[in-house]
Formats: sequence, structure tokens, C-alpha cells
Amino acid sequence: MKCRVCREPAVIDIRRHNANFCSDHFLRLVRDQTTKAIDEFQMIRPGERVLVAVSGGKDSLALWDVLNELGYEADGLYIGLGIGGYSDRSGEMTRAFAADRGLTLHEVDLRAEYDTDVPTAAKATRRVPCSACGMSKRHLFDQAALDGGYDAVATGHNLDDEAAVLFGNTLRWQTEYLARQLPVLPARPGFPRKIKPLVRLGEREMAAYCVLRGIDYIVEECPMAVGNKHLGYKEALNAIEATSPGSKHDFYFGFLARAAERFRDAAPAALESGDLATCERCGSPSTSEVCAFCRLIERSAGHEPVTLTRKGKPL
Ligand code: AMP
Ligand code: FES
Ligand code: ZN
Ligand code: ZN
Repeated sequence: MKCRVCREPAVIDIRRHNANFCSDHFLRLVRDQTTKAIDEFQMIRPGERVLVAVSGGKDSLALWDVLNELGYEADGLYIGLGIGGYSDRSGEMTRAFAADRGLTLHEVDLRAEYDTDVPTAAKATRRVPCSACGMSKRHLFDQAALDGGYDAVATGHNLDDEAAVLFGNTLRWQTEYLARQLPVLPARPGFPRKIKPLVRLGEREMAAYCVLRGIDYIVEECPMAVGNKHLGYKEALNAIEATSPGSKHDFYFGFLARAAERFRDAAPAALESGDLATCERCGSPSTSEVCAFCRLIERSAGHEPVTLTRKGKPL
């Protein structure tokens, strides 16, 4: 197996590119594909400041690393979700990464600042944990970016993530989600721009990038996500990709090129026009008097904390 570029021994094969790469040329490919996504979708303009949402996982740590390598001004944001030992370990990984490289990391801790955490909020509000978690993260990303004067929030969503979400949304024809499933969501009053610079890269590539760059990341999955539908969609797409390399890419980029535009009118009108009220608790834009995040906090703060356990042991 030889590198497509220099013919030296290769360390990775990428079937959808029908090519193998040595370490140096693979790292270059990751940087080039990130640059291509940033340019193609106009994610970051010269001089802008980016806030990278970092979970301690491979994708977001790699993204933070690549953006710095490419010379962008990119600081990190870690949200302590209070998901038992999983959150403790992911926080440690993120802090260690930032300290080793002298990068600026902001932190928001749900328990310390809002007197709750994801397992407790999910139980108190009878929401699916991933939905309470996702909503809280989005709110805190927006708030931290606006407070810190950042132009964009970058997340580590990769091609596998986006193809799986698209698959789920298409399966149920959730047109209001399809309308907003884009690699860039422009800034609106009260919301920073949202960008996903890793959409051209797969999960396996991000893991390889971390190994080759010596980035320590949390390998375990969130214990609350185990068995959720999203993981099932990923497995289904992996099975298709195994026999037909490039399917995920064609599915997602075909959607962007030929279908996304058709769903534009399905986005909630208030969101599109920016015609939103202001949450009377936190001041963020909202469709109701009190935003969904503040309602979640009100209903769960002070609730008996939920301890996650497996076989009687705390997780
Ligand atoms: P997930 O929803 O867990 O698949 O994560 C998607 C992206 O959200 C990650 O790539 C990160 O950019 C961001 N993210 C997830 N968890 C956190 C966290 N605890 N703190 C900051 N960013 C996060
Ligand atoms: Fe949000 Fe697991 S990371 S529920
Ligand atoms: Zn090479
Ligand atoms: Zn609010």
C-alpha cells in the first residue's frame, strides 16, 4: 500500500477517495478538506474569531487542532453536562489538550452555574436525555459566543454524523429539520453563525488524525446515548458504505446540492425572519416568554440529583 502522492508506504486507505496516504499526506488531506469546506460554504472570513465547542471527543479536539494549524483564531468552549464519570473524564481530556498547547478554553458547568445536570434535567422534565442535552448545549454555545464576541461557533460534526442525521430526518420527512441541516447557519439577531468545518471528513479519518497528531481523546461514548436511533442510522449507513464506498458523501452532498433548497420554506417562519420575542429570564431570542432552556432549568434546579449507575456502580 503506497501513498497516492509520494509513493512512500501508506498508513491509511480512504476507500471513497480510492486512495492511500502516508502520514504527512494524510494530515495534509485533513487540513485541505477542512479548508475546502470553509471556503466552499464561506464559514469563516478573514479576521473573524471562532469559538470551537469541544467535548473531549476525537472530532472536536481534532477540529480545534486543525483550525489552529490553519492559523485561525479559535478558542475552545467545554460544557460540563454532569453525566457522571463520563463528563469528568471528557473535561479532563479537554483541559489537558488546551493546557498542552497553551490554548484558551472557556467552561460552563451546568451543576455549578444552573444547579442541575443532564440526567437530572431529563428526569425532572421527562425529556429524552439527548434532547435535553442538545437543547442545553445549543443555548449555551450561543450565549458563550455572544458574550465572548465570537463570530461563529464551530462544532465537530463530521460526514458520518451529518449523513446519519440526514438519514433520520429523511426517513420521517422532518422537513423543518431538513430546512436547517446545512454546514453553515448564518448569524441572526441573538444567534452567532454555526459552522461544521469537518463535513467533508469521516469518523475514521478523524480518529486517525488524532492518533497521528498525538491527541488524547475520550473513546467511550456518552452513556445516555447508548442504543439511540442516531447510532442505528450510523450502522445502517456503514453497511451501505462498506459495499458502496462514497455513498455517505453522495447522500449528504447530493442533498446540499440538489435538495436542501427545496425545503427552505419549511423552516419555522419566526426563526427565518428573526422575528422572535426575548426570553424574560436570560434575554435570548425565544418563541415564548421564557425560553426552552430557562424552562428546563426552572423545572429541574433543586430536583434531587440523579446518579447514573451501571450494575449498581456509579458511572
Ligand atoms: P454530539 O452531539 O455529542 O455528537 O456532539 C456534536 C458536537 O457538539 C461535538 O463535535 C462538539 O463540537 C459539540 N459538543 C458536544 N458535547 C460538548 C460539550 N460537552 N461541550 C462543548 N461542546 C460539545
Ligand atoms: Fe448529550 Fe449524551 S452527550 S446526552
Ligand atoms: Zn505521501
Ligand atoms: Zn432564557
